[in-house]
Amino acid sequence: MTRIAVFASGNGSNLQALIDAIGQGKLRAEIKLVVSDRPDCHALQRARSAGIAVLAFEPADFRDKAHYEGVIAEELAKSRVEYLVLAGYMRLIGSTLLQLYPRRIINIHPSLLPHFPGKDAIGRALAAGAAETGVTVHYVDEGIDTGPVIAQERIAVVPGEGRADLEQKIHAVEHRLYPQVLRQIFQEEEKWPGVR
Ligand code: GAR
Repeated sequence: MTRIAVFASGNGSNLQALIDAIGQGKLRAEIKLVVSDRPDCHALQRARSAGIAVLAFEPADFRDKAHYEGVIAEELAKSRVEYLVLAGYMRLIGSTLLQLYPRRIINIHPSLLPHFPGKDAIGRALAAGAAETGVTVHYVDEGIDTGPVIAQERIAVVPGEGRADLEQKIHAVEHRLYPQVLRQIFQEEEKWPGVR
């Protein structure tokens, strides 16, 4: 059973998809901790409702990223977390966590990277008149949504489609794809530790 921490800043629908996939036996993992930089976000409520431990912090209360990531790292070590799974965590991961979890930090992003990295990827794809967009799961490096791609799925943008419709399609893909890709990674890790 892979021990993971999920990082989230917002609604937490991807966190919920992971909680559900684990509950249904589709993903062999245990969420040891949900970490958030937004103490009032809905993702934390979802975690608490599922009985998962949470670590919420206000970045402004810390000297810098290394300071708060040091505190997070201590908590991760206590529960022997193996992978960090970013699910709508809208903050760059710093060198403290990158060094502790090399190739063990995974992110999901609502575009076909390298297109539309960063914030509001869905709105910017629409504004650019893109004919297609999609979802990317990738390893995290020091850049903004720049690490090696693990999986991508394309989604056509229907002409005249509104933001809400496109968002709904993207989220539906995310909620299916993320547990599926993580399942694969954790299975390989169990069979051949360190293979990736
Ligand atoms: C998701 O669409 C995720 O791909 C995106 O934030 C949303 C979070 O939704 N992440 C990024 O844009 C990362 N750069 P959720 O809180 O409902 O899971």
